[in-house]
Amino acid sequence: MTNEVTVITGASSGIGAALARQLGSKGQQLVLAARRENELREVAKQAGTRALVVPTDVTRRGDVENLRSQALKEYGHVDVWVNNAGRGITKSVLDLTDRDVDEITAVVLKSVLYGMQAIIPHFQERGRGHLINISSFLGRVPLVSHRSIYSAAKSGVNVLTANARMDLKAKFPGIHISLVLPGIVETDFHKVAKTPQIPRAGSKLGFIIVQSAEEVADQIATLIEHPVAELYTNPALVGLVSQYCQDVGKFEENLVRRTGSS
Ligand SMILES: NC(=O)c1ccc[n+]([C@@H]2O[C@H](COP(=O)([O-])OP(=O)(O)OC[C@H]3O[C@@H](n4cnc5c(N)ncnc54)[C@H](OP(=O)(O)O)[C@@H]3O)[C@@H](O)[C@H]2O)c1
Repeated sequence: MTNEVTVITGASSGIGAALARQLGSKGQQLVLAARRENELREVAKQAGTRALVVPTDVTRRGDVENLRSQALKEYGHVDVWVNNAGRGITKSVLDLTDRDVDEITAVVLKSVLYGMQAIIPHFQERGRGHLINISSFLGRVPLVSHRSIYSAAKSGVNVLTANARMDLKAKFPGIHISLVLPGIVETDFHKVAKTPQIPRAGSKLGFIIVQSAEEVADQIATLIEHPVAELYTNPALVGLVSQYCQDVGKFEENLVRRTGSS
């Protein structure tokens, strides 16, 4: 077993659970957080390593602070913190209620802020650490209009991540801050968000190939070994970003022509 300690939020299913299994197979020590304790315990068993389970609702600042405290109490330090918990919603801009906006903002954006504010002071004390925020390609290129508020909240995650990285870079060169931008991944995300068509790994949806949670987890594990500022888990997405930035109007026009809507 290594001395490396990684905290993962949203570890009870999907990408977070796959990452726990992947890091566990490398002998890393884990702290697993989400609301569903039984599922977390099952993932901890599958990870086959020392793993602390901390039931956590990431929309509550106190829960996230407790997660940090439990991790430090158990292991004495944290090397990597992955803000992965999140959920989507299928609603166009004109249909959004105040409640939709508050709920999605809390679980997607505020949770990430809570995680950053909880762990970065510990990294500053140690002079090292790696914070990883799981965003979405939709936070960079909002090409699926029924993901509206979800994509908007993920855009906010992108900004907080970039700004914190800039703030820390000069004084704390040993602290890495990374953003991960997955495309479409086969997980429970799509059931929870009530996606009309559940994507299957390996199939093509619109522009891109659907990935498996394991594939994305492998890439995050590599990111932990070789930190970079941003990781697009599907290389095809990088080309789309430059097309989008070159001419937003033309990009949207082509998309609507191709699909009838996004
Ligand atoms: N799947 C995709 O196509 C896709 C694409 C781009 C980005 N992402 C992002 O990837 C991340 C992981 O999602 P996934 O695809 O692996 O979906 P998932 O299988 O549904 O996993 C979501 C995780 O977040 C946790 N979670 C949700 N609300 C929470 C809360 N209030 N407090 C604590 N934990 C909470 C869930 O656990 P509990 O229900 O037990 O709390 C679960 O462990 C999310 O940030 C998502 O936005 C996914």
